[in-house]
Amino acid sequence: MKSKNKTRIITIDGPAGAGKTTVSKALSARLGCVYVDTGSLYRGVAYEVCRCNVNWRDEAELAALLSSLSFELKLQAGGTPRLFSSGQDITDYIRTPEITMLSSDVSAKTSVRHALLGFQRQIAQNSDAVFEGRDMGTVVFPDADHKFFLFADLKTRAIRRYSQNNNAGCSQQTKTAQPQTLAEVEEAISKRDQNDSSREEAPLKPADDAVMIDSTDLAPDEVVDKILACITAK
Ligand code: DC
Repeated sequence: MKSKNKTRIITIDGPAGAGKTTVSKALSARLGCVYVDTGSLYRGVAYEVCRCNVNWRDEAELAALLSSLSFELKLQAGGTPRLFSSGQDITDYIRTPEITMLSSDVSAKTSVRHALLGFQRQIAQNSDAVFEGRDMGTVVFPDADHKFFLFADLKTRAIRRYSQNNNAGCSQQTKTAQPQTLAEVEEAISKRDQNDSSREEAPLKPADDAVMIDSTDLAPDEVVDKILACITAK
């Protein structure tokens, strides 16, 4: 691990639906640096678990899968990174409700987290970046230049995710996804919150030195402005 970043690293952690993705993309566009969606990596593992029919609860089977994985993230300022697995673009396949829940389950496995740790830190060696995830400020980049933790009440997060899913022209859920009702979205988010924050390895929690931002009553631009103000003031 680097003791001091040469590159400028900004971390944005928080639960699902807190606005991390919208805010991180906008922030990276404003700062002219890349945006890294680390959740897509856990989703990529879940996708490969399904595609290869792996019993992920079996440590040996999971380890064999992890050692065979070859991921590449094509990054851009302000845009959604494309995730490639062994050369194939799988970005449009990793946001179904099934992959979403499975990504939360597999992310609790120590072997999965360890497999992705070096990959994430490697990206940070090369460019200034906004990293979005669950353990960015606590585990992956404890020395990040700026750390933020976004949160919002459950109902608000469920409504946001539900509207994203149903927004025509938005490909949040693509390919095999079945539409979810608002109640189903809320239940799935609540279950993921519980999974992600109660796991032993790198649970979802704010870093001690993270700036906490409640986005419940804020528009994305207002959150971005708050973050930029903190960055400028530091
Ligand atoms: O951010 P997301 O919803 O795409 O993340 C999908 C799952 O991946 C999430 O439920 C937990 C896991 N995850 C994680 O454990 N650590 C991260 N840094 C990012 C995501």
